[in-house]
Amino acid sequence: MAYETINVEVQDHVCLIKLNRPEALNALNSELLTELCAALEEADASDKVRCIILTGSEKAFAAGADIKEMSEMSFVDVFTNNLFADTNDRIAAIRKPIIAAVAGYALGGGCEVAMMCDFIIAADTAKFGQPEINLGVIAGMGGSQRLTRFVGKSKSMDMNLTGRFMNAEEAERAGLVSRVVPAKKLLDEATAAAQKIAEKSLLTAMAAKEAVNRSYELPLSEGMLFERRVFHSMFATEDQKEGMAAFLEKREAQFRDK
Ligand code: HXC
Repeated sequence: MAYETINVEVQDHVCLIKLNRPEALNALNSELLTELCAALEEADASDKVRCIILTGSEKAFAAGADIKEMSEMSFVDVFTNNLFADTNDRIAAIRKPIIAAVAGYALGGGCEVAMMCDFIIAADTAKFGQPEINLGVIAGMGGSQRLTRFVGKSKSMDMNLTGRFMNAEEAERAGLVSRVVPAKKLLDEATAAAQKIAEKSLLTAMAAKEAVNRSYELPLSEGMLFERRVFHSMFATEDQKEGMAAFLEKREAQFRDK
């Protein structure tokens, strides 16, 4: 499919989606969000894709929802259209692993879209923030919910109430990002991580993603039960037999997603 506000490339089973509205620091307008959801769903359905990377430019992953587009909206508009609910639900429903590779600004909706991905690799230039309070609104796609689960109440309150930005080092210390790399190496590192994931059984990777994500929704005992049931179910797969046989035979596993 041809897109206007994003670029999509598939190479070696990795789908790279690049947000591409440089004139607005990749601000998330409705066209971009619609295209992003469609591209993610296309990648999720494609036999050629085993892992997805979402990235922006050197200057901005995304500087937030598009303020120009939102400025004239009324309560009735946003309530009736359920603004941003669809984006959240569609990205959350993607079953293949998604890595966010973030350089520069990831603010407001940009930080929230990064947090919807499965993990964040940050360039040393990355800046995260929920500055919506400066605009007379609050976060609307997870900045008060997902961010609090990532970094805890105190830091989340600090970010949401003062609107200050967190640099990459602080974001790693706080648990928002999984690693920080030099900006020039961001895409290489993200691609290497994605290729590592793409070599695994896709079935197992999808099950692992599902299990980790349940930890957000369930009390520990129910989460442990879910994990155990999924773990047990892996023994019905050929990939479990292959993975364990390969270890014992001291060779690389050849997974077939079966
Ligand atoms: C629309 C935006 C934008 C945004 C930047 N631009 N952010 N347009 N929506 N969120 C545009 C600017 O208007 C400008 O266009 C161009 O991008 C370059 O931006 P500058 O401000 O000139 O760049 P700079 O001085 O380097 O400052 C970068 C910045 C600043 C610190 C990131 O742009 C900024 O504060 N942006 C807004 C960040 C923000 O408040 N995000 C939260 C949005 S609300 P022109 O045409 O003038 O060159 C949100 C709600 C979430 O996300 C709710 C659920 C999704």
